Amino acid sequence: MNKILELRNRIYKEKKVVGLNGESLELNSAIDPNEGNAILDILKRNPDFFRTIEIGCAFGLSSLFICEGINGRLGSKHTIIDPFQMTSWKGVGIHNLKNAGIENFNLIEKASEIALPQLLEQKESFDFALIDGWHTFDHTLVDFFYLEKLIRPGGIIGIDDIHLPGINKVVRYLLNYPNLELIESVPNYTSRKRKFRDNILNNFFGLIKIILPKKYYYKVLSDKIIKSDKILGLYSSMVFFRKIDNDKRGWNWFEPF
Ligand SMILES: C[S@@+](CC[C@H](N)C(=O)[O-])C[C@H]1O[C@@H](n2cnc3c(N)ncnc32)[C@H](O)[C@@H]1O
Repeated sequence: MNKILELRNRIYKEKKVVGLNGESLELNSAIDPNEGNAILDILKRNPDFFRTIEIGCAFGLSSLFICEGINGRLGSKHTIIDPFQMTSWKGVGIHNLKNAGIENFNLIEKASEIALPQLLEQKESFDFALIDGWHTFDHTLVDFFYLEKLIRPGGIIGIDDIHLPGINKVVRYLLNYPNLELIESVPNYTSRKRKFRDNILNNFFGLIKIILPKKYYYKVLSDKIIKSDKILGLYSSMVFFRKIDNDKRGWNWFEPF
């Protein structure tokens, strides 16, 4: 078993991580293994991806998956943006990467809203990005705004926690971009109750759409209801967009979302 896989398996099993000073901490923030494996699959399916970037490292679980995905590729480098890695997270994420034998990463200890425009000014470019930082609507949109410019056409951007209302709204807006394609939604149901509720709601609205005459349907149901998560393919907590082209929208582009 490779060192990275071994380390992340141990962390998910024990639900504990070790800080730089050797203290043991509860694993209280990390992507789900399903989501991690989806990232890994995407990176493996795209062997030409070698420059990756993520917003929000915490204990470094997402970083481990990303670094594993580009491991061994010529010139590969992972850029991590997290202003609190050495304070709130006690350097655990970085410690984990080093313990797994990963050296090809750099940590930018700045807020993403500061670091991303700087990377753009430096004319950096990436193949893959993950957004898992500050989870408000505006912050996520700002992260995406810059990452869409930093990712080259053909590259992929993942967004975590799309079940949160603010992030869900951002994703609904992005679904209208002509140069983006939703390529994957990761099923991630940790709560059986939520799965049950979502299934009922999504199937109900899906059924209404089929049985009601179109005219009546659009008249009666609000946009929000028409665009249920199921209909939009957002039945998950992580989604991936491929940037199929450069952004060619005009100055006054807008689509209701
Ligand atoms: C949910 S955690 C990330 C979990 C991590 N991706 C994983 O799977 O292990 C959110 C992270 O966002 C970071 N964060 C908070 N505000 C930020 C900002 N303005 N810019 C970048 N990162 C930020 C936090 O320090 C934290 O590490």
